[in-house]
Amino acid sequence: MNREVLLADDEVTFRETFAKVLREEDISVTVVGNGTDALDAVTKQPFGVVVLDIRMPGADGIKVLREIMRIRPETRVIMVTAYGTVEMAVEAIKLGACDYVMKPVVMDDVLTKIRQNMKYLDLQEENKKLKQELTRRFDISQIIGKSPAMQNVFEMIRKVAPTKSNVLITGKSGTGKELVARAIHSLAAQYSRHFLAVNCSAIPEGLLESELFGHKKGSFTSAIRDKEGLFKSACGGTLFLDEIGHMPMSCQVKLLRAVEQRQIIPVGSTQPIDIDLRLMAATNKDLPKEIKAGRFREDLYYRMNVVGIHLPELCERKEDIPLLVEHFIKQFNSEMGKTCVGVSDAVMRLFMSYDWKGNIRELENVIERASIFAEDDVIKISDIGLLGSHAMGLSKEDETLQTAAKAYEKEYIRRVLSKHDWNKVDAAKALNVGLSSLYRKIDELEIDSRKPKRSKANNQ
Ligand SMILES: Nc1ncnc2c1ncn2[C@@H]1O[C@H](COP(=O)(O)OP(=O)(O)OP(=O)(O)O)[C@@H](O)[C@H]1O
Ligand SMILES: [Mg+2]
Repeated sequence: MNREVLLADDEVTFRETFAKVLREEDISVTVVGNGTDALDAVTKQPFGVVVLDIRMPGADGIKVLREIMRIRPETRVIMVTAYGTVEMAVEAIKLGACDYVMKPVVMDDVLTKIRQNMKYLDLQEENKKLKQELTRRFDISQIIGKSPAMQNVFEMIRKVAPTKSNVLITGKSGTGKELVARAIHSLAAQYSRHFLAVNCSAIPEGLLESELFGHKKGSFTSAIRDKEGLFKSACGGTLFLDEIGHMPMSCQVKLLRAVEQRQIIPVGSTQPIDIDLRLMAATNKDLPKEIKAGRFREDLYYRMNVVGIHLPELCERKEDIPLLVEHFIKQFNSEMGKTCVGVSDAVMRLFMSYDWKGNIRELENVIERASIFAEDDVIKISDIGLLGSHAMGLSKEDETLQTAAKAYEKEYIRRVLSKHDWNKVDAAKALNVGLSSLYRKIDELEIDSRKPKRSKANNQ
């Protein structure tokens, strides 16, 4: 960002003092003596702060200000006003100037104001960067997958992003529905303001309507003031109705109206409000099945499902697992300051044969925890089996990854033992663990480590 200061004032002595003081403070400054030159200067290059005399020959300060606000609205303009032009200074503030100083100008005052405005510009720039960071996190490049199913998803995202169409994202838990919604939002230029997400299953039925559409003060006991609903707040941006399959029927009727008419009526009001936003919804439920069961409105389903994006389960696109593993390892390396380079072949084989009921979220959790516990730069089977299934967020009914890992580890150790003719010293060396660790594993995994006696029948 340009941090140069422009002074436009017709008083030569003031211009000279001003330029001298600013240069002494190491602030680069351009000075001009009239409005026309000021306009020329601003057209040629941006200035961080412009100090503008209200009364000048050529274009007066107000005219120059209007033009600056038109071509470079981010400029911080400080007006210089003499006795009798204070009203004009107030007018200037309304037009977008950020401050004013009175003549005769006290140099210290104007210097403080310039510094404050430069600080403001720094903060604004920092803020912009942070916002870009946030958007980047959710941009399409953060969605990993090279499988045909995911290529199809990418194509849908790119095609639907520039449109106004409602999007319904379906898929099992942890398949990346919210990630896809955010990616569409960040690619959509026309609804770029903000992304508001509401989890329809997390808000009690009685409050959901007021949460979505807002309410008028006094419309129910706890409505002590007017409340703007999410539909209104999301205008100019995206509203993401997560878990729409859990929305109670009573609310579905209101939602249908909002979707069809692009209007909402806050609870307790009769005045409809126009809404202009991008609507997306997600669910892990099978909505056609919910419709048949009478739990979801068919008309709402068709309204929302103008574009449907279905996310495949991880077990249907196992070829993406190595890429995802690499992606999450890098992510946790940078978050935790680790230097992990990958997973062992055995871990990768296990990952490829596991059924990943919790989908990508489960894989992400597994890598996160393994990254915490791994003592080596390579994640090993033992790093994965460290936690209980509860901590891994897996349900008891499912075969847990630890169970699978243990079975794999048991089989693997048994094979190595067998290969080394059940010699534990050699097997420990081959496994790259201490002898006592091998004994501990044999105990823990209940491996029968005795050399099997060959029966005559086997020899035949
Ligand atoms: N293709 C992908 N590439 C990289 N990360 C992914 C991918 N899909 C999902 N993730 C990550 O997995 C986690 C779960 O994704 P997300 O929250 O979008 O899933 P969801 O389908 O909304 O799940 P739920 O139904 O449980 O709400 C997030 O941390 C997300 O960043
Ligand atoms: Mg989700």
